[in-house]
Amino acid sequence: MELIEAIYGRRATRHFTKEPVTKSMIETLIDAAIQAPSAVNEQPWHFTVVQDPALLDRISDAAKTHMLKVMETSDYPHHLHGPLHEPDFQVFYHAPALIVISTLTNDWGIENASLAAQNLMLSAHAHGLGTCWIGFSQRWLETEEGKTCLDLPPGYTPVAPIIVGHPSQAMPPVPRNPPRLHWIG
Ligand SMILES: Cc1cc2nc3c(=O)[nH]c(=O)nc-3n(C[C@H](O)[C@H](O)[C@H](O)COP(=O)(O)O)c2cc1C
Repeated sequence: MELIEAIYGRRATRHFTKEPVTKSMIETLIDAAIQAPSAVNEQPWHFTVVQDPALLDRISDAAKTHMLKVMETSDYPHHLHGPLHEPDFQVFYHAPALIVISTLTNDWGIENASLAAQNLMLSAHAHGLGTCWIGFSQRWLETEEGKTCLDLPPGYTPVAPIIVGHPSQAMPPVPRNPPRLHWIG
């Protein structure tokens, strides 16, 4: 697939078949992720792969409870609260795999992890897979309990939890607003 086709064709995917993603495919996606640039070429990434449906359910439950607490004291849009109250809502949409990209906790960690995440999502799309970054899980994964659950080595912060799977339906294009663009010179 042409890069430009991947950039324009990738969609946040929230409907998956039950087909697992093979270990070698996950390794292929992670290999694409680590081709991303990183500040001073530190390559500070750490990848955690979760495929056990029971563990994904547990993380989802913990993340929902935590997120609702976080939302009480912050200004998240109100429509985001709704699904978190639904007992059947799994934040990972029952995807067969979750890849959490963490980085060394230092300056540019978020940038480094986000660049790897975009590579991973574009590569997945090029291989016919769907992905979605699950921000709903982030605030809990960042807690000590979350990091322990991910078995993260000390000094790492989870940044990009990305679900991966075989899409069960095509996702419609999501319209973009015109860019806020200001030419100053
Ligand atoms: C940082 C970040 C957090 C996100 N969190 C969630 C989430 O928790 N749940 C979800 O369904 N989609 C989530 N998304 C996906 C966005 O909703 C999606 O990218 C956006 O609607 C644009 O659609 P597109 O990716 O198909 O272009 C997240 C995306 C980003 C970049």
